Amino acid sequence: MDFSAIVVAAGRGERAGGGVPKQFRPFRGRPVLLWSVAALAEAGAREIVVTAAAEDIDAWPGLLTNQSVKIVAGGATRTASVRAGLDALGEADVVLIHDAARPGLNGEVIARLLEAIQNGAAAAAPALPAADALYRTDAAGRVLASVERAGVQRAQTPQAFRADLIKRAYAQAPMDAVFADDIALARAAGAEAVLVAGDERLMKLTYKEDFAVLERMLGGRACVGSGFDAHRFGEGDHVTLCGVRIAHDKGLQGHSDADAGWHALVDAILGALGRGDIGAHFPPSDPQWKGAASETFLRHAVHLAAEAGAQIQHVDITLICERPKIGPHREAMRVRTAEVLGLPLDHVSVKATTTERMGFTGREEGLAAQAIATLDCPR
Ligand code: CTP
Ligand code: MG
Repeated sequence: MDFSAIVVAAGRGERAGGGVPKQFRPFRGRPVLLWSVAALAEAGAREIVVTAAAEDIDAWPGLLTNQSVKIVAGGATRTASVRAGLDALGEADVVLIHDAARPGLNGEVIARLLEAIQNGAAAAAPALPAADALYRTDAAGRVLASVERAGVQRAQTPQAFRADLIKRAYAQAPMDAVFADDIALARAAGAEAVLVAGDERLMKLTYKEDFAVLERMLGGRACVGSGFDAHRFGEGDHVTLCGVRIAHDKGLQGHSDADAGWHALVDAILGALGRGDIGAHFPPSDPQWKGAASETFLRHAVHLAAEAGAQIQHVDITLICERPKIGPHREAMRVRTAEVLGLPLDHVSVKATTTERMGFTGREEGLAAQAIATLDCPR
């Protein structure tokens, strides 16, 4: 079914704190807002309008303009932000209006909403039954009355509407009207609404603790990748391993800086992502990588992981050589690797071993490295 979407992201996130409005904070590898944009795009939205505060549009230029979305300035209230989104919306039969602060959006909820509209509903929202006992209280927290729980539902977003109806409802509402959500506004204009099954994962990030709760709820898929690399010793006075330059009576031959440790690590990350190998991304035949610092390759792998919504959790690198002795440089290698990966030090391991003078590493013809990377990937 043809539909367009509005994602409201102009709030200040006062209750969540954290210095940055919550919809721009990182969540499972990408900014909160981008999860909803991606889910709507994947579900086939014809147009996606994002309403954001003017200052945030300036502060996050790349984030918003890199997406195929239309960005417009929001308003002082959620209702005003939705209105701005509707004003910017092109031709549409059906529109989904969604809070950027609900990154757990998935295609199944969208399908249920579209089905309700297809079946003739003018407005539909996902909702969950209230499970706890409900009380009305005064400001001091004293219980004034029990509220009958049967038939009480907690509404979520996205909320779906026939576009002409919601546009008309907003046109009728006073400019300074403030509604709890768009179903409430549509109902005030006389529309009938239905509820479809909601999803706990659609919870709104409202308070600081909500980030960890939703992160656990969404869970991840552990993905693990392994990598291996070897380089031949040749003329030279140093080697570079895991980003650390070590004086040595030989050098390592290779097209780039021949950092076998980081090359193995790049392949491990690419392996976890199912994105081929380092040679496919940085062909040795390409002159631009001649003598290149392997940090470029590693940063690229980190970027690909973030783009896929994956988080690198832990890496373990083993260097295999008789000489140079790795021990004295091991800690510096961990620090450099952790720095580039943006990980705490205890999530990075660098080890070394010899092969007891056997094989090509034992004869000091070359040096080898292997790595394992553990990532938390989206389901
Ligand atoms: N929103 C908006 N424009 C506003 C206020 C809110 O677009 N003037 C959006 C928020 O960005 C969020 C959604 O409406 O995606 C739900 O609002 P809420 O959870 O209240 O977010 P904030 O207003 O940002 O948070 P707080 O109320 O804690 O400041
Ligand atoms: Mg608010």
